[in-house]
Amino acid sequence: MLSERGDYTIRHGGPSDVPFVFDLGRRTVDDGLSSLRNAPASNAAAAFDRSVNFALSEPHTLLIAEAGGERLGFMLGLDDAPDDATGTPQLFCVYVAVEAYARRRGIARAFFDVAEKAAQAAGVRYLSLVVSEENLAARSLYAHLGFLTERRILCKVL
Ligand SMILES: CC(C)(COP(=O)(O)OP(=O)(O)OC[C@H]1O[C@@H](n2cnc3c(N)ncnc32)[C@H](O)[C@@H]1OP(=O)(O)O)[C@@H](O)C(=O)NCCC(=O)NCCS
Repeated sequence: MLSERGDYTIRHGGPSDVPFVFDLGRRTVDDGLSSLRNAPASNAAAAFDRSVNFALSEPHTLLIAEAGGERLGFMLGLDDAPDDATGTPQLFCVYVAVEAYARRRGIARAFFDVAEKAAQAAGVRYLSLVVSEENLAARSLYAHLGFLTERRILCKVL
């Protein structure tokens, strides 16, 4: 166990947690969809599957929150994904999600706390991720955690 927070614990995930990662990820991935594009939700689920499969095939960190044997959320990060532009080593957060009924209990904040400490202990000084402009809950979380906007992806509807 990595961390005990009142009514839930954070632990490292393993192969037996992978079905949960796919299930919760596919159920929440729509939150990151842009309303600018007219695309079926199935595309987002397929893109999610690709990114998770890639991350699991590389050095990664998988954290699981659980209470009473029930999984409440996960965070999946790529341990060795240097920033393209600068080449600086970074932990790249592929996805984080918490079951709807378990939100606003500090679970996502606890994931980042554990992941940041592990990255720092390994000498990694940056943590990076991509978030959809319209995902206000996630943007608020990242602002709360001290993330700064480094680049923007722009889109013009033609
Ligand atoms: C984004 C998400 C992971 C947050 O998980 P969570 O466990 O509820 O977040 P926490 O409880 O740790 O929140 C920490 C802080 O983030 C901010 N925050 C989190 N959710 C918020 C929301 N819905 N609205 C406003 N602020 C929010 C708050 O500042 C919160 O602190 P507070 O509760 O003391 O005010 C969760 O809403 C989720 O799973 N969303 C669907 C999947 C998703 O969009 N993932 C992000 C992909 S980039």
